[in-house]
Amino acid sequence: MTNLQLDDQGRLRHLLDVAGLPLAATLQLLDRAEAIERASGQGGLASALSASIVATLFFEPSTRTRCSFHIAASKLGATVIDIQPSQSSATKGECLIDTVANLHAMGCEAFVLRHSKNRIAAEMAAHFGFDLAIINAGDGTNAHPTQALLDAYTIRQRFGTDFSQLKILIIGDIAHSRVARSNIALLTQLGMGEIRVCGPENLLPRDLTANGTHACSRLEEALSDVDIVMALRLQKERMHAANIPDHAWYFSKYGLTEEKLRLAKPGAIVMHPGPMNRGVEIDSALADGPRSLILEQARNGVFVRMAVMQALLASHRP
Ligand code: CP
Repeated sequence: MTNLQLDDQGRLRHLLDVAGLPLAATLQLLDRAEAIERASGQGGLASALSASIVATLFFEPSTRTRCSFHIAASKLGATVIDIQPSQSSATKGECLIDTVANLHAMGCEAFVLRHSKNRIAAEMAAHFGFDLAIINAGDGTNAHPTQALLDAYTIRQRFGTDFSQLKILIIGDIAHSRVARSNIALLTQLGMGEIRVCGPENLLPRDLTANGTHACSRLEEALSDVDIVMALRLQKERMHAANIPDHAWYFSKYGLTEEKLRLAKPGAIVMHPGPMNRGVEIDSALADGPRSLILEQARNGVFVRMAVMQALLASHRP
């Protein structure tokens, strides 16, 4: 993946997956997001991408990712074209390569793509090379790089840059979660002290736990001594009917509540990438309480996506 994302001079040209991204590139993006956050409100970035056109193509629903890319691009002065697949010529049989090629011919330089097919963003990058920039906004169960970056950014904001003494627990439908996959890859790269995953046995894949991630099916045990607890949604759209747990059973076993959180470190924080299903994977009181950083994650998503677009589009300029 490294070669698809970086050019010969090591510049980031596509953002497809955090797995394979060099540590230096990750840190540059996080530092750039921090600088953008510091500068926000001072008007210093408004025209940074004023000559750029960014297209968003979301073949799966989204609120946070789609809107924060729009806001991020607008704050940088770019023009945003929102392609709604249900209203586009994709409904008449046009393939994605042709859609992207035509939009590129009209002047679009960057394409923010969400799709149900694993690795489709990488396929587009391989096809078009560095003529344009592809940003993976979530592909199937494979990767969600900007979510992982904004989660790492949020953790860094709270705990500082040294993750080596921190323990994180990710709870839920790990098997179908591109967020879990990307977070595990990025937090491993950033030196997270310990990564645990917890969920029903049939929603815990073996490949995620192969490289040092600890898997546990008992939540009470998994919560012990962790600093960060991340709850995930059950991704019913990617499950077979037999996989879908009964909500009441799931909440009693794996739903995160204030009472269960007492088993974690005092001061442990709660995260969720959204969308949340209240009363299924997380209790409302906890989601809305003082230990929740869920809205902070959404806020930070704008800075991180500004950083990604600025890095990519700057490297496309002669
Ligand atoms: N976290 C996330 O990807 O949310 P959306 O599906 O709303 O974009």
